[in-house]
Amino acid sequence: MVCSIGVIFLFGSLLPWSNGANDFFTSTGQMTDLLHTEKDLVTSLKDYIKAEESKLEQIKEWASKLDKLSAIAVKDPEGFLGHPVNAFKLMKRLNTEWAELESLVLKDMSDGFISNLTLQRQYFPTDEDQIGAAKALLRLQDTYNLDTKTFSSGDLPGVTHKATLTVDDCYELGKVAYSDADYYHTELWMAQALSLLDEGEESPVDKVTLLDYLSYAVYQQGDLDRALILTKRLLKLDPDHQRANGNLKYFEYMLAKQMKMEQADEGTKKEEEVGQTNQKKGPSLDYLPERKKYEQLCRGEGIKLTPRRQKRLFCRYYNNNGNPRYILGPVKQVDEWDKPRIVRYLDVISDEEIETVKELAKPRLRRATISNPITGVLETAHYRISKRRATVHDPQTGKLTTAHYRVSKSAWLSAYEHPVVARINQRIEDLTGLEMDTAEELQVANYGLGGQYEPHFDFGRKDEPDAFKELGTGNRVATWLFYMSDVAAGGATVFPEVGASVWPKKGTAVFWYNLFPSGEGDYSTRHAACPVLVGNKWVSNKWIHERGQEFRRPCGLTEMV
Ligand code: OGA
Ligand code: FE2
Repeated sequence: MVCSIGVIFLFGSLLPWSNGANDFFTSTGQMTDLLHTEKDLVTSLKDYIKAEESKLEQIKEWASKLDKLSAIAVKDPEGFLGHPVNAFKLMKRLNTEWAELESLVLKDMSDGFISNLTLQRQYFPTDEDQIGAAKALLRLQDTYNLDTKTFSSGDLPGVTHKATLTVDDCYELGKVAYSDADYYHTELWMAQALSLLDEGEESPVDKVTLLDYLSYAVYQQGDLDRALILTKRLLKLDPDHQRANGNLKYFEYMLAKQMKMEQADEGTKKEEEVGQTNQKKGPSLDYLPERKKYEQLCRGEGIKLTPRRQKRLFCRYYNNNGNPRYILGPVKQVDEWDKPRIVRYLDVISDEEIETVKELAKPRLRRATISNPITGVLETAHYRISKRRATVHDPQTGKLTTAHYRVSKSAWLSAYEHPVVARINQRIEDLTGLEMDTAEELQVANYGLGGQYEPHFDFGRKDEPDAFKELGTGNRVATWLFYMSDVAAGGATVFPEVGASVWPKKGTAVFWYNLFPSGEGDYSTRHAACPVLVGNKWVSNKWIHERGQEFRRPCGLTEMV
């Protein structure tokens, strides 16, 4: 109905978008490289400016010298040329010196800078990366219920370096939402850009363009009245705006029609009408209930632990039934949740160990494909990566897409690579009492801007028969997760099925069983890593497998599970 009228417009397509490997911005390591690249480019740009200035200086000197000379010469040309030296110098100037000046004027001082820029450009983010980063901001906005004003003023919790969004930045976010037919966010960000302009911010983006997008986004969400008001405002600024003039008539026509229908059947139809044009893609419509719960938990809301249950959670010194390595120095163990049982160990990895693990992982996080150098394990590593990058169904289109599933970078570390890795594996074995030989390698993950891991099970389900077959070690019986950084805001590990949120705390680790002692998967362990709002998040985890645990799974814990 709407499109057939043909008055309503679509803007030309914006930046191209595909679901490729747009994960540049997902790890802080690469972003750090970009910052350094940019710093080098600024140095090179400053060198260019200096060279250009010194060139101009030379030209200026020449000009002023000749200015003086010719002023004297033209006063009495014959007398001037009567001096043989002057005559000779005139010849010399015209024959050679002007040519020298010409080459100086023509000299290109930008070579160094331009070649530097060309060289570095190959590492620059692409349109896809920029769109990905914009979408990450929109996602954060939804998850953490942040209004556009707070966001654009940079007033986020826990920030140390305040950063604000300009009119153009807001406009850019609006356009990304628009090209995704996400009119909810289009409206929010175009309105924010407009209000910054209204507050007097200077920008090359004009109000007419913003109002054009805004009225369309509002119209798409079914608010004809506001669409009309916005179109009128646009026409005040640009009375000849063709599309707006067309839309004005269309909106008035639609409103009149609506009014008639309302009068005819007392407004019962109106709702339907609005419903039809309402293509709002805001958080309220297409988010699944699980997503709602997940987002709530990410914000630290909706945690479902009654005071009675809370009272039964304890903390204690723990040495795993007298493990010799922990008798003298037991670790602090805290109950985070009862069902499923999630325990946290405090101070189980030192800052030095964390640094070593991060340094070992960093060069690998930068690589597009991550593989374990050990032969044989390599395939497994690929398998894990592809599993983590698994395709998901886009709720909008039903199409398979790679977006959002896990936005992080990971690397695998083997015990033989560094004594610290071996020591860490041993520690997990000592504290859990579980066999590490059949566990997967230590995985290190770094979540950057908007980095997250959507709700998932760590264990393989029955409908995924081949999940861990190639490993030959059975299913993932338990998960050990080290937090290797504090996160300024966001980044919790949440369990939407049971309403638990676990907050990252540097040096601690959480542990839970994914399977019941029977080998059945415990569906209440479904969990997710919330997007990082401010800061960045480092974790490392160990996925422990069934084989080898036959005589090891401690009885104390099995009773609880
Ligand atoms: C995992 C996982 C959660 C987190 O690695 O399996 O779910 O908070 N991580 O990083
Ligand atoms: Fe997980």
